[in-house]
Amino acid sequence: MSVGRRDKTEDEFRKDAEQAIKRFSRSNNGSQTRLNQVLSRFYYYRLDIYNKDGYAQLGDYLSEIDKVYGTNGNRIFYLAVAPEHFKPIVENLRSAGMVINDGTSWQRVVIEKPFGSDLNSAIMLNEVINRVFGEEHIYRIDHYLGKEMLQNIMAIRFANALFEPLWNNKYIDHVQIISSETVGVENRGAYYEKAGALRDMLQNHMLQLLMLTAMEPPAILDNNSIRDEKVKVLKSLSGMTYEKVRQHVVRGQYGSGQIDNKTVPGYREENKVSPSSDTETFVAMKVEVENFRWGGVPFYLLTGKRLPAKFTEIVIQFVSLPEVLYFKELRGLKPNTLHIRIQPMEGVELYFNTKKPGIRNEIIQVGMDFCQNCDADAVSPDAYERLLLDVMKGDSTLFTRWDEVEYAWRFVDSISRAWAEEKPVFPNYPAGTWGPYGARKLIEKDGRQWHVV
Ligand code: BG6
Repeated sequence: MSVGRRDKTEDEFRKDAEQAIKRFSRSNNGSQTRLNQVLSRFYYYRLDIYNKDGYAQLGDYLSEIDKVYGTNGNRIFYLAVAPEHFKPIVENLRSAGMVINDGTSWQRVVIEKPFGSDLNSAIMLNEVINRVFGEEHIYRIDHYLGKEMLQNIMAIRFANALFEPLWNNKYIDHVQIISSETVGVENRGAYYEKAGALRDMLQNHMLQLLMLTAMEPPAILDNNSIRDEKVKVLKSLSGMTYEKVRQHVVRGQYGSGQIDNKTVPGYREENKVSPSSDTETFVAMKVEVENFRWGGVPFYLLTGKRLPAKFTEIVIQFVSLPEVLYFKELRGLKPNTLHIRIQPMEGVELYFNTKKPGIRNEIIQVGMDFCQNCDADAVSPDAYERLLLDVMKGDSTLFTRWDEVEYAWRFVDSISRAWAEEKPVFPNYPAGTWGPYGARKLIEKDGRQWHVV
């Protein structure tokens, strides 16, 4: 059942849905009969979300549908709306008696990010939703957690004697987490102006990648044990003082430039964006996870729009060996690296050194790779397929618990507070390049380089 403010008949809604499914579905091999069966289960209800009385009527309609499918009043309310509408919607649902959760039926709520715009607004929002639904019925979506390779990070780490013993500051020199996009803000200027890369990507997706890479092994694989370990990583992040932000965080905004040999406009020229906007479309930073496993190991994070390539990847760079024995004449021996490729290629690549065949003593770097989605038949499910199924099953492991949101905001707020003190000089990178010069300097001054292709 879809609820919207537009005046549409159910038939019109089903036609729209049919077109969308045909256009976006990743498999095209279903029959029209099967599709019609699915479409016959789509319903549309017109509702002004601020009209309290409308909710009771919606409730009656849903009860009718319950009778057809035997769904017993079990419901998932998926709020794909702007954050300012969350509060009135959940309060109206409660007043209309649509949230019961008394053991006879369940009602769950799914909330899209951003969950608030800073810590205070997130706390307020959380209180309202919690009062109505309770934490166990709240599903905060971060679609990165539904990606196949994110779920694989724990398996790679904890199911391999080859990696787990090395996963610490004795053997790892540094970690890079990169999520780069070629797209601009598309038609989302109004939203993006308030969010920026820090709130849009870093507060959620990037920190999730960091947590999964750095967390301790959970005692058991249940939803709370995993999330307990993840949140400890956020608690261990080195505090971001103004001085640290100035030294370790770089923000950028794209100007016009070339993507795929086509000229694209700068961010300030995009639809619904202020021509003097100070919103960042790029952020790079160096953070440290201050615990015994990671003390002294920098994590470099980079994300941005209108960069030269679309990919998300975690790179673990192992320490360089002391140049001993006959290798001492060979300067520049490359360190081992492990690349966990999240998208578009899903897989793992390990680089190590071998002797180049021949009579000369030369060492070359070679790569060994496992590609999960290279095989045409091996299509990973879309992140949302997995996540929505989990909501139906009542499994919240791949959803963000409140304390993850809270500590993520604490970290991000410390950066935005420091940024508010200084006006940025934007735009500072042309579309189609790897971000502002400061991002290169950030890592090169430590004697390292970004692993961007
Ligand atoms: C969304 C952001 O959460 O993630 C978008 O709001 C971004 O700005 C998108 O483009 C990236 O997701 P993916 O799955 O394409 O990496």
